[in-house]
Amino acid sequence: MSSSRQQTKLQEVKAEVVSLLKGLSDKVDLERKLGVDYLQLDPVIKGKMSYEENVISQPPAPESVCENTDTYNEEAKVELSKSEKIEALGKLEEQVNRCAQCELCKQRTNVVFGVGNPDADLMFVGEAPGYYEDVQGEPFVGKAGQLLTKIIESIGMKRGDVYIANILKCRPPDNRNPNANEIVMCSPHLIRQIEIIRPKIICALGTFAAQRLLDTKETIGKLRGRFFEYQSTKFLATYHPAYLLRNPDDKKKVWADIKKVRDFLKE
Ligand code: URA
Repeated sequence: MSSSRQQTKLQEVKAEVVSLLKGLSDKVDLERKLGVDYLQLDPVIKGKMSYEENVISQPPAPESVCENTDTYNEEAKVELSKSEKIEALGKLEEQVNRCAQCELCKQRTNVVFGVGNPDADLMFVGEAPGYYEDVQGEPFVGKAGQLLTKIIESIGMKRGDVYIANILKCRPPDNRNPNANEIVMCSPHLIRQIEIIRPKIICALGTFAAQRLLDTKETIGKLRGRFFEYQSTKFLATYHPAYLLRNPDDKKKVWADIKKVRDFLKE
């Protein structure tokens, strides 16, 4: 194929992808207005590509745009030493800092990659950075973050013992909920972090993290406090600390959930 025909074809494919994503985004917005509080991810989450193939080394090919990498790649089957994890996370962070896969990159002050012990047994996954996280480039540093620190300390651990990351690495404007396209585009970064860190247990904070990693539409009320597996890693979801700030009566449920995490780690 001549290079000008290739260019035209590429333009056509790009236009089609943009229009598909717009349709998806409109549908989610409409569903949200209608009160639907789950994410319809199953039709689009099917990929088996490696992180590099899917995200970093090339612009999104039409077939891969809506696929994620929830399958360990060959590299990820090898357990890394702590220093290898530090190096792998460092390289990944450099790549994520350059990510421009969705519109959120245009408004971010900082990419909020993740923080903590690269060799952590326990990894928390939240939703998306807020104002303070965007400014400081670190997850969970605002009011919800202070509560998360208390939750961690309630089981005899320090913030620095665990690893903390979010589904989205950039702040959605006005702290709105992540949309389906942003989640699809950003998730491979998180999946790769999990592959590198290989925690003993993942604790998802809130609806978005729980639904995304379990690939379900079930409500957080039904998912929380139960053990699941995510790619052979133990998984437990609980309420998001920001929800707890608005609904302090549910704190006791989170204490119960986090004690299950503590007991699992003691086993
Ligand atoms: N809420 C989140 O889900 N993540 C953060 O980093 C901060 C608030």
